[in-house]
Amino acid sequence: MNTPNLNVSVDGPAVARAFADHLVERLNEKKEGPFFWALSGGSTPKLLFKILAEDYQDKVDWKRIHFFWGDERCVPHDDPESNYGEVKALLFDHVPVVQSQIHAVDTTKSPEEAAKAYGELMMQLLPSNSDGLPILDLNMLGMGGDGHTASIFPSNMDELLTDDSICAVAIHPESGQKRVTMTGPVLNASDEVAFLITGNGKTQRVAQILNKEHGAEKFPVTHIKPTSGKLIWFLDKAAADEVGY
Ligand code: 6PG
Repeated sequence: MNTPNLNVSVDGPAVARAFADHLVERLNEKKEGPFFWALSGGSTPKLLFKILAEDYQDKVDWKRIHFFWGDERCVPHDDPESNYGEVKALLFDHVPVVQSQIHAVDTTKSPEEAAKAYGELMMQLLPSNSDGLPILDLNMLGMGGDGHTASIFPSNMDELLTDDSICAVAIHPESGQKRVTMTGPVLNASDEVAFLITGNGKTQRVAQILNKEHGAEKFPVTHIKPTSGKLIWFLDKAAADEVGY
């Protein structure tokens, strides 16, 4: 059984810095050319975006990065719920990113049209693997308390973990909010998937998944295993507290 690659830090800020340093390492490894990074939404990445804006202005070669989103809420970009809007305010407005390399989901379209268009855009911009799936250099994902990731929830995982479209429309099980999400096969086509998970609210779920406990298969995160890429877990001590190794 291969032991998952864990990067455990003392607290949220330290997790953010560990990931930021990893981003710098990955950019250095891929010596030149574009770097394709998919972002996630929610609260955990906010700390990362703030720390990148404050302390990584000169450490990251921002002009090489193309930004994508693993999922996006179907709301206007200036809506407080927008994942794009969150990153723009916390990061893009503070570092020298190339505007034409920010590939946001076009939420002016209907959810169905936006999902189709985003999949086409990814196929146009990204290299693809032998299965014809687009390859991201780095797919940064979070995990909700129910074990969801991107907008692949327990309620829609049977469909979205095998969906052969690049992006699909998902509905948040509580709010009913429509979202565009990359599908499971696309997440697993990434060169590297990095989960950023912090806080004691996630301890039990992280333990169930990483300890391969009975019932873990009902959580979407359990099924995110890059086909040929790497998987790294950036955790704080609280989230990793009950991991059995
Ligand atoms: C979103 C995210 C979602 C998020 C998890 C974890 O659009 O909300 O992509 O998948 O990563 O819900 O969110 P927290 O980091 O806020 O717990």
